[in-house]
Amino acid sequence: MMDSKKAKLTLANGTTIDLPIIEGSLGKPAIDISALSENGYVTYDPGFMSTASCDSSITFIDGEKSILLHRGYPIEQLAEQCDFLDVSYLLLNGELPNESEKNAYVGEIKKHYLLHDQLNSVFKGFRRDAHPMAVMAAVVASKSAFYFDEMNVYNRNHRRLSANRLIAKVPSIAAWSYLYNLGRPFNYPRNDLGYAANFLNMLFSSPTQAYHLNPILVRAFERILILHADHEQNASTSTVRLVGSSGANPFACIAAGIASLWGPAHGGANEATLKMLQEIKNENRINEYIERAKDKTDSFRLMGFGHRVYRNKDPRAEIMRKTCHEVLSELGLENDSIFKLAMKLEKIALEDEYFVEKKLYPNVDFYSGIVMRALGIPNSMFTAVFALARTAGWIAHWNEMFLDDNLKIGRPRQIYKGKTQRNVPSGRNVSKY
Ligand code: ACO
Repeated sequence: MMDSKKAKLTLANGTTIDLPIIEGSLGKPAIDISALSENGYVTYDPGFMSTASCDSSITFIDGEKSILLHRGYPIEQLAEQCDFLDVSYLLLNGELPNESEKNAYVGEIKKHYLLHDQLNSVFKGFRRDAHPMAVMAAVVASKSAFYFDEMNVYNRNHRRLSANRLIAKVPSIAAWSYLYNLGRPFNYPRNDLGYAANFLNMLFSSPTQAYHLNPILVRAFERILILHADHEQNASTSTVRLVGSSGANPFACIAAGIASLWGPAHGGANEATLKMLQEIKNENRINEYIERAKDKTDSFRLMGFGHRVYRNKDPRAEIMRKTCHEVLSELGLENDSIFKLAMKLEKIALEDEYFVEKKLYPNVDFYSGIVMRALGIPNSMFTAVFALARTAGWIAHWNEMFLDDNLKIGRPRQIYKGKTQRNVPSGRNVSKY
């Protein structure tokens, strides 16, 4: 039962508990169930399908209406009118920067661009064929060994410094993770380039060969960064908040976010989509894969389709779809076999009864993988690019968490289904050592 201010829950023993209703500025109202534990109950919500874990003012999603707002601004306008550092400033500070704020912010980020020289040896400890995400997670975590003594997470200025360091250094860490795979020398960041161009230059230039920066391709890459910058309380952001709630070092928190993002159900989807397209290979085999995706006895899912929150179209997907066409036309790749295969798959899935009924539309990663492939970014770097972009959102959420007066260490409960109490059998051999 619910009225406009509170809900009433009646337990089996007849006890009635009043549960306050909390209204945000947009979105569904929430029932505050924190009083339940005092009454001897916990709630059960696998996958947090009905659980709000925090208050947040950063991002709003309406999955039914395909709306994504960052600090109130629609993603379509941000992708069109802003660059990535505008968006990262917005996520962290709540407002878009004016000209002098922007100059100061860009200057601050560039001041922190360089990595500590000793990190070279951290990279060199890995096998050459290590996945860039594994290297990134470990190298970002290792930064907590560089910046810890002067770091007090409850100090606003310390948090700001950590945020700037992370945004500044993650592009080099991502690019170097790949250059190390190739056995190529590490390229240094360039202060004369914008954030997106600097990353592409680090990834593709070499001491013997400059990289030609094509403005259409740089803008397309910038759009990938903007579209992936934040997405409210997804698995990796919730991971960053949970790790951070214990007061852990911010570099360690972001490393945990990278680990969470790596999974194919989350950030690994763009890489998995490309792998799937390469495996399907031929348009004649699309139906076979569609049938497999529908078969409940087969664990295969059509990668790049569906979304936990968007039960309608993913608004980012439409922007990326447009960008995808721009990039392929600029590069003369419209007849590329993988692209043609993707377009055919998209069409068939959008018309197939199973996908239509379950509202499984292509998500942003269905297209971002194709764009990145056209830009020459290898499959193994797709999720690393996502991590680079999402660092802006992770750090904004991590910072916001400390502004919350109700901040508590995250500690979910459980329904225990194991053995009840019993005794260890007597007469066991105990090691003498
Ligand atoms: N292919 C085939 N069937 C699917 C797919 C898919 N890609 N996605 C969902 N379904 C089906 C499920 O089998 C389920 O069917 P059922 O109701 O008959 O059991 C139904 O649709 C609902 O799916 P859920 O798993 O309950 O949806 P959930 O919200 O848990 O999963 C997820 C969302 C993980 C994104 C899922 O759609 C998926 O695995 N997609 C492929 C991976 C992917 O593209 N992930 C990227 C997400 S976007 C991002 O991280 C930026």
